Amino acid sequence: MSAAPGLFVTFEGGEGAGKSTQIRLLAAALRERGLTVLMTREPGGSKGAEAVRHVLLSGAAEPYGIRMEAVLFAAARSDHVEQVIRPALAAGTVVLCDRFMDSSRVYQGITGNLEQPFIEALERVAINGVVPDCTIIFDLPAAIGLERARKRSSGSGESAEPDRFEKEELETHEKRREAFLDIAEREPLRCRVVDATETQEVIAAQVLSLVETLLPITAEGRPEQVS
Ligand code: TYD
Repeated sequence: MSAAPGLFVTFEGGEGAGKSTQIRLLAAALRERGLTVLMTREPGGSKGAEAVRHVLLSGAAEPYGIRMEAVLFAAARSDHVEQVIRPALAAGTVVLCDRFMDSSRVYQGITGNLEQPFIEALERVAINGVVPDCTIIFDLPAAIGLERARKRSSGSGESAEPDRFEKEELETHEKRREAFLDIAEREPLRCRVVDATETQEVIAAQVLSLVETLLPITAEGRPEQVS
């Protein structure tokens, strides 16, 4: 498990699943309980990793192929782990991270078609023993997630039949959904699946109760002193 005494929680899932809202709500609830919380994200989260984020998300690395992109995601992850996550956990912080190693398994490994030993080797080097204590997977039919994302970006609220490109996208997103669920099935101790079609309030309550079971909290709502 992660570098105790902190708690390392990662959040995974497809587009339009509401991860970032839920991370903010959880962080606020945990801070109210007197805990020190760090919200972070990937790719990025440290100075070096944010520089690599720009290269990845701008599409600048795309011409060099999926293998190059996978290595860059791993480079960013390594910097993020060593510069930010590991020290925060060692200081007793609750670290909430928007996407982590499972996104590489799914986006580069499954829908990127990279061979598993390559992905596994990169993961090992990048996380260097810092495995999430808990990974919350936001599960949503791809069509609903894409619709939400489309509404958000167009602001129109109108629903149209998906065109050829969107259909292709839909298949890819559905494949990613299955891949996340597959990880959850294979690693039930680390992963929890949340139904992201529920209301924000229901999801927030579920996420908080999941994380609370992992925290040493007293009745007064303060972290217990570990002697
Ligand atoms: P971001 O704008 O942070 O999106 P989201 O709100 O979907 O989390 O973009 C991150 C993108 O990078 C997202 O499309 C998933 C992708 N990604 C990978 O392909 N591999 C990875 O290892 C990570 C961390 C992210």
